[in-house]
Amino acid sequence: MSQKVLVAYFSASGTTARVAQEIADAAGADLYEIRPEQPYTSADINWMDKNSRSTREMNDPSCRPAIAEPVQDMAQYDTIFVGFPIWWYVEPRIVDTFLESYDFAGKTVIPFATSGGSDIRKAEKSLKGHCPSASWKKGQLLNGSGAADWAKRVMS
Ligand SMILES: Cc1cc2nc3c(=O)[nH]c(=O)nc-3n(C[C@H](O)[C@H](O)[C@H](O)COP(=O)(O)O)c2cc1C
Repeated sequence: MSQKVLVAYFSASGTTARVAQEIADAAGADLYEIRPEQPYTSADINWMDKNSRSTREMNDPSCRPAIAEPVQDMAQYDTIFVGFPIWWYVEPRIVDTFLESYDFAGKTVIPFATSGGSDIRKAEKSLKGHCPSASWKKGQLLNGSGAADWAKRVMS
């Protein structure tokens, strides 16, 4: 029986979106954008501003920004790739909103991220804490090329 695969991603400025598309093409997966109810403006993602929306959200571990629309029928998926930009060494809070919105028990979840250079390790640890029931596979930082090859490798 063939696996049903979803690539779910959040992207504030397009980099992670491009990687997510590559993975979806390589894995023959459906693509779902974790789209914020309230889109992030460029002022919102100014990490040098102590008062910007992203800074305030990342300073508050309990913050859960709302998602515009849910995944249609999450139950059909066996494997879910979850992609995001690294924000302050971890996943943006809206990814926590996503993880806490579904029952991932019995599903394989595979994280990937883009960043300005930080690795994915701290984010991986944080993700697992928000969704301990999933079967987590090792995550991958995907700056530059190689997303399609990696996706095929982890799916085989
Ligand atoms: C609020 C904020 C915080 C960030 N924090 C980090 C960080 O801790 N380490 C890092 O390497 N890059 C950091 N970045 C850079 C992004 O991870 C990087 O540009 C990413 O590829 C953007 O992906 P996107 O275009 O899909 O949003 C940060 C960016 C923003 C907006």
